[in-house]
Amino acid sequence: MLKCFLLELVMTIKYGHPRKPTLLTAKNMRRERHWQTVGTENRFEQIYLRSTASRPIEFLRTLGKKQPKVMILGPGVGEDTVKLYRSLTAEHLDPKIDTFGLTNSLSRAARRIIVRDYSINMPLEMITPRVPEHQRLISALIGKYDLIVGALSVGIHTRYPAYNVFASSLMLSPGGKAFIEVRDYRDKKKIIEVVKKMVGAYNRANGTNFQFDLENINFTGYNRYLEITRIQ
Ligand SMILES: C[S@@+](CC[C@H](N)C(=O)[O-])C[C@H]1O[C@@H](n2cnc3c(N)ncnc32)[C@H](O)[C@@H]1O
Repeated sequence: MLKCFLLELVMTIKYGHPRKPTLLTAKNMRRERHWQTVGTENRFEQIYLRSTASRPIEFLRTLGKKQPKVMILGPGVGEDTVKLYRSLTAEHLDPKIDTFGLTNSLSRAARRIIVRDYSINMPLEMITPRVPEHQRLISALIGKYDLIVGALSVGIHTRYPAYNVFASSLMLSPGGKAFIEVRDYRDKKKIIEVVKKMVGAYNRANGTNFQFDLENINFTGYNRYLEITRIQ
């Protein structure tokens, strides 16, 4: 509790201002309807094979864990996640996949393979330890995952991409990797700098030693991801 309160303090004092809620404007409502249609099966090839050049799957292959813990941030309907699950089980892995998104639109097939959907109709950037329900969520997610994938979600549909990359990174277990899609190259350079500062401030405030390696990856020319590795 104290740790998270300090994190909140660091975020609001050192990095400007409290984060504003996402406004449900007509434009956003249209976008929400669109979100329900994304996360379709065909997105699997785009996300896991083309945009990230199979790095998330390759990582799980070489990790050596029979039951890797996976978090999908912003799954949409989650059909691509079903395909990910099937491609991993075909390789004799038994992934434990959780999800977290703003909208709650998982298909029936996705619900069958997902261990837990942590969505609470709240964008990632608005999760705050001041609210007991959020506090429980933070405790459940921090340091938990071997692999995190956020395609077209927390790094894009937000006013706070750097904060969301930071918050996503904290969910990694040591040695874990996150692949978060972000908007453009300039953004990414700035995001990397700000995330590093946030990690430093978090470590100083909490006496922790989270360390991440952040790398730009762009295999297709238009889908851009940050690959984040938790070193310790
Ligand atoms: C466009 S869909 C992407 C679905 C799928 N990942 C794909 O790439 O096809 C956006 C997803 O991200 C979630 N999302 C968008 N902004 C978010 C935020 N700020 N925090 C948490 N989830 C968010 C939505 O709920 C939805 O599940």
